[in-house]
Amino acid sequence: MDAAHVDDDLVNVLFTEQQIHEKVGELAAAIERDYEGRELLIVGILRGAVMVMADMARAFTRHVEMDWMAVSSYGSGTKSSGVVRILKDLDTDISGRDVVIVDEIIDTGLTLSWLTANLASRNPASVEICTLLRKPEALQMPVDVKYVGWDIPNEFVVGYGLDYRERYRNLRDIGTLAPHVYS
Ligand code: IMP
Ligand code: MG
Repeated sequence: MDAAHVDDDLVNVLFTEQQIHEKVGELAAAIERDYEGRELLIVGILRGAVMVMADMARAFTRHVEMDWMAVSSYGSGTKSSGVVRILKDLDTDISGRDVVIVDEIIDTGLTLSWLTANLASRNPASVEICTLLRKPEALQMPVDVKYVGWDIPNEFVVGYGLDYRERYRNLRDIGTLAPHVYS
C-alpha cells in the first residue's frame, strides 16, 4: 500500500519508494565493492529487515547467501526494552565467514550491539552492519555501523518493513507515524 492508503496516520512521508530503491541500490553497490572476490553472507533481522533484504539481495550483481535471525528487544509499543532474546537463530555456521548484518533501523542500538557481540563470538572472518535508517539522537549503546542509508530524527517511523503493532510493514514508503495513532 501507499501513503495515500494510510493518509491520516502519517505526519509526513520521509522517503518515497523510489528514494528507498535508489538508496538500497547504493548500499548494495558499496558492499559489493568491499567484498569483491570474497564469499558473502547477509543476515537479515526478522521481521523488519525483510523488505531491505529482499531488495538488497536482488540489487547485487553477484552471488550472496542469505540467512535470518529473529530477536526481540521491543514489546508491542514504541520503546525498546533493552532485553534481547533470540527467537530464531541462524541456520548457518558462520565460523570463518564474512558476514553483513542487515537491519532496517538502529534506534537505541541495544539490539545490534548485543547481536554483533553474539555473532562475533562465533569466530566469523568478519562482521559488519548495514542499516537503512539510524536515529543518532536515540543511541544508547555504541554500534560500529559500516553502511548507513539515512540518519533520521528521533521519531517513530513506519513502512518498508517497519511496523507499529505489526501494521504498516507493507507500506511502500517510509513515514513518521502520527502521535494520535499510538497515544
Ligand atoms: P534498537 O535496539 O532500539 O536499536 O531497536 C531495535 C529494533 O526496534 C529495530 O530493529 C526495529 O525493529 C525497532 N524500531 C526501532 N525504532 C523504530 C521505529 O521508529 N519504527 C519501527 N520500529 C522501530
Ligand atoms: Mg528490526
